[in-house]
Amino acid sequence: MTSVLPISKEQMSKNSSSDTSTPPSPVAVPRVCLVTGGTGAIGTVICQRLAKAGHTVATTYRNEEKAKAWQEEMAKQGYVIHIFKCDVGNFDETQKCVKAIVAQLGPITILINNAGITRDTSLRKMSVDQWRDVMSSNLDSVFNVTRPALDYMLESSFGRIINISSINGQKGQFGQSNYAAAKAGMHGFTKALAQEVAKKNITVNTISPGYIETEMIMAVPENIRQGIMSQIPVGRFGTPEDVAHVVCFLINPDSSFITGANIATNGGHFMD
Ligand SMILES: NC(=O)c1ccc[n+]([C@@H]2O[C@H](COP(=O)([O-])OP(=O)(O)OC[C@H]3O[C@@H](n4cnc5c(N)ncnc54)[C@H](OP(=O)(O)O)[C@@H]3O)[C@@H](O)[C@H]2O)c1
Repeated sequence: MTSVLPISKEQMSKNSSSDTSTPPSPVAVPRVCLVTGGTGAIGTVICQRLAKAGHTVATTYRNEEKAKAWQEEMAKQGYVIHIFKCDVGNFDETQKCVKAIVAQLGPITILINNAGITRDTSLRKMSVDQWRDVMSSNLDSVFNVTRPALDYMLESSFGRIINISSINGQKGQFGQSNYAAAKAGMHGFTKALAQEVAKKNITVNTISPGYIETEMIMAVPENIRQGIMSQIPVGRFGTPEDVAHVVCFLINPDSSFITGANIATNGGHFMD
């Protein structure tokens, strides 16, 4: 894994100052945050919100070309995001990556497990690779990254772990037995770990987004999209900002009493 483009102190200070439309909201304690899958639709906005709040933000990627272009685009917009090549489904690679992030940026105390993929098909047609790839990127990754990052949170007597699950981990979805199992598994992980580390000032929570207005959903034919939207009581798809907002809420020091929770962020689409 490599960190692409060294970041100067001057660039660091741009994070919270380049967007003049929204005043920066400086945080009491700047933290080192790791957002897995930060180059994706939801991850991008999470990274931006954390950077704008004055935190140091790192993300992992697999696709180098995409990640470099993304980092340059972030820099143009005034955000400094550190990028590290790592398949978070691979345990050994992830251990090395977390060490490299800590060596370069300092102890990770905010972790957003956001990396995820889908490989949809009915179970009867599902290959073992489709099952394993989805479990690896969505669920193994949560163990692989949280396991080493937790040591630094324990040493720092502070930690915020947020796992990005899905509405379909709560209600299931045709053609997504792999994805629904992985996303439901994340919440079991959340509840167990939350109990283990509650006394150490570390909270562990899950966010379960509903349908979010990303390229994937916009590629769905208009009539099908309208059908999905008609099932959402608030009458719109979610946005990456809706998810990033909940991340910011959960990492806020005032949210320290919330742990082991699943925050449904779905416009009322599914109420558990
Ligand atoms: N979009 C929605 O409507 C929606 C709804 C509910 C939940 N979610 C969840 O929200 C999260 C983000 O979704 P999104 O729509 O932003 O996805 P996205 O745009 O497809 O981005 C996914 C990101 O995850 C990274 N990634 C995937 N597997 C990885 C691995 N093994 N190692 C390292 N990086 C990996 C990708 O990096 P590379 O491209 O470099 O591989 C990419 O940056 C996912 O967990 C998803 O399941 C999304």
